[in-house]
Amino acid sequence: MISETEEYVRKVLEKDVSGHDWWHIFRVRNLAMKISETEGGDRFLIEMAALLHDLDDWKLNGDGNFNKTEKWLEHLKLYPENISRLTEIIGQVSFKGAGVETVPSTLEAQIVQDADRLDAIGAIGIARTFAYGGSKGRLIFDPDIKPEIHADFEAYKKNTGPTINHFYEKLLLLKDRLNTKTAVKLAQRRHSFMEKFLEEFFREWNENGET
Ligand code: ADP
Ligand code: NI
Repeated sequence: MISETEEYVRKVLEKDVSGHDWWHIFRVRNLAMKISETEGGDRFLIEMAALLHDLDDWKLNGDGNFNKTEKWLEHLKLYPENISRLTEIIGQVSFKGAGVETVPSTLEAQIVQDADRLDAIGAIGIARTFAYGGSKGRLIFDPDIKPEIHADFEAYKKNTGPTINHFYEKLLLLKDRLNTKTAVKLAQRRHSFMEKFLEEFFREWNENGET
């Protein structure tokens, strides 16, 4: 089931250029499995949820096709109980805005969310974020547009600000919103690399006079 799912997800996300390609899924799955070595949880559910976590993500499904996951799980003939557990885990993974509290209710969902968040920060996180911004036609930076703290998911979804703002609206907040101790340890180096990147970015930006 796992290798069939791998193959399916790989095919669906093959051409993604928004930072949600197969290799994002691959890294999240591997990180989730690594976290679960120390934190526990049901390894089958964790691996399946990690593989499927972005399939129906709102950011990638402008076409309104939001039930690929459920259809796939039915196709695999999973026990209905496992289908509902997986659907619940996947539904709890995603970030919904800086001002929105999203703590998953199960250990499995906490681990997959941590893995997804680790792949959103650090050098890879920086690369993905600019890829996402470019794919959505966003500016790199505009000093006249300030970051927003989104009060709810609707406000977060509507946001069209420059990509640098996303660091202040989400990426720098993630290290304090992780669920497991293992992920907190893995986040430290990645977080400080983003801080160094931003420091250098603004240093260069201001090198020829303040804007
Ligand atoms: P989540 O479910 O937490 O949103 P995803 O794996 O779907 O996690 O991907 C989130 C990634 O997409 C972000 O870490 C970032 O790289 C990119 N992204 C999402 N929204 C924006 C945005 N407004 N500007 C730039 N990048 C974004
Ligand atoms: Ni993801």
